[in-house]
Amino acid sequence: MNILILGSGGREHALAWAINQNPKCDTLICAPGNAGMAEIATCLPLDIMDGAAVVAFAQHHKIDFVVIGPEAPLAAGVANALRGARILCFGPNADAAQLESSKHFTKEICDACNAPTAAYGHFKDAGSAKEYVHQQSTPIVIKADGLAAGKGVIIAQTTAEAIAAVDSMFDGQFGDAGAEVVIEEFMQGEEASLFILSDGKNILPIGTAQDHKRAFDGDKGPNTGGMGAYSPAPIMDDAVMQKAMEHIIKPTIKEMARRGTPFQGVLYAGFMIENGQPRLVEYNVRFGDPECQVLCIRLGAQMLDALLACASGTLDKARINWADDHAISIVMAAKGYPEAYEKGSIIAGLQVADNDPKAQIFHAGTKLVDGQTTSNGGRVLNITARGETLLEAHTRAYALIKEIDWPEGFYRKDIGWRAL
Ligand code: AMP
Ligand code: GLY
Repeated sequence: MNILILGSGGREHALAWAINQNPKCDTLICAPGNAGMAEIATCLPLDIMDGAAVVAFAQHHKIDFVVIGPEAPLAAGVANALRGARILCFGPNADAAQLESSKHFTKEICDACNAPTAAYGHFKDAGSAKEYVHQQSTPIVIKADGLAAGKGVIIAQTTAEAIAAVDSMFDGQFGDAGAEVVIEEFMQGEEASLFILSDGKNILPIGTAQDHKRAFDGDKGPNTGGMGAYSPAPIMDDAVMQKAMEHIIKPTIKEMARRGTPFQGVLYAGFMIENGQPRLVEYNVRFGDPECQVLCIRLGAQMLDALLACASGTLDKARINWADDHAISIVMAAKGYPEAYEKGSIIAGLQVADNDPKAQIFHAGTKLVDGQTTSNGGRVLNITARGETLLEAHTRAYALIKEIDWPEGFYRKDIGWRAL
């Protein structure tokens, strides 16, 4: 079949790598793609936010299956447009994508199905939000309701900080995303993520992971999109997993179907786990980045079979063959990220993983310029490795990263510390 992947990050390179290994994949096109994806697929320009343009592109290239990587096109209804044109596609329609694009929507779903999550208030004006803050204790969490590229959450340590956060949101710091605000109880515990596929009715768990959001070692520095991840997450043991599935995931999928907006795609659930009890922090309606990279290196070619079963409503018949292994992905970012950074520096030594069946270098922000791989974003490379233990995967990945010649880049030296 002819397959189209929308996106250009490490997540999409990992999906392309996994899908490309499956014999069902005849032709692979990535739009817009990056330098790493260009080694295994045809990369073409396309405005992936424009549903009509994506449909026309898919028809022109006789695409049989479209995989939508990032959340923005999902929230913009690109999956609706593809389904409307009877093109098989992986990813939820816009109404189901509200599980990520509106924090308040997710809170209402949790209320409707009694799923454990932080207590909250929802506000459309600063006055009532501040009144609520004054009635609560600190720390307290102030969230822009809409999509804010992972930046719309402020954990306020004091009431004054919380009031300032409320003001900044209603003053437009996050644009339209902050026009409504959710204020939450601060939850203690350890965070972990669970990834499940759903075809709207059936559910297939495809792995757990933990990531490191802060830029620097010791979980210090500003928040980023993620500086590294590993799978599985030891804290998501069988007992926690069972609670998460029974009390949070299954009721959510059921409630979405009951509302006539079934969720089809990958649901990435973030939990706070304390004393063995998971509570929902948030949902995302797409794979995590770099969590997808560790899932893809563990699942390999069978990822395509799972995505196809999900998109075609046959997940009840799908099976995952689990290698009982571990994976880690370390992000190399441009110096300065997540604040200002330069683009366009040359990266060498990327062939180091070529002969290692247990390692892959996924490209996130790269671009080919005159035949040379150059940096083209904040997060640039994902050095990803497998092993029978996390320590083995960790040792393999860190040995490779030292061989990469990119003085303008940096990475964290302690990815996986919690699990090691
Ligand atoms: P979100 O975008 O909702 O996942 O929030 C980003 C990050 O903020 C989460 O991964 C948590 O680390 C933290 N966070 C969000 N909500 C809460 C909460 N209610 N209690 C504690 N930490 C939170
Ligand atoms: N790594 C966090 C995310 O993809 O949202």
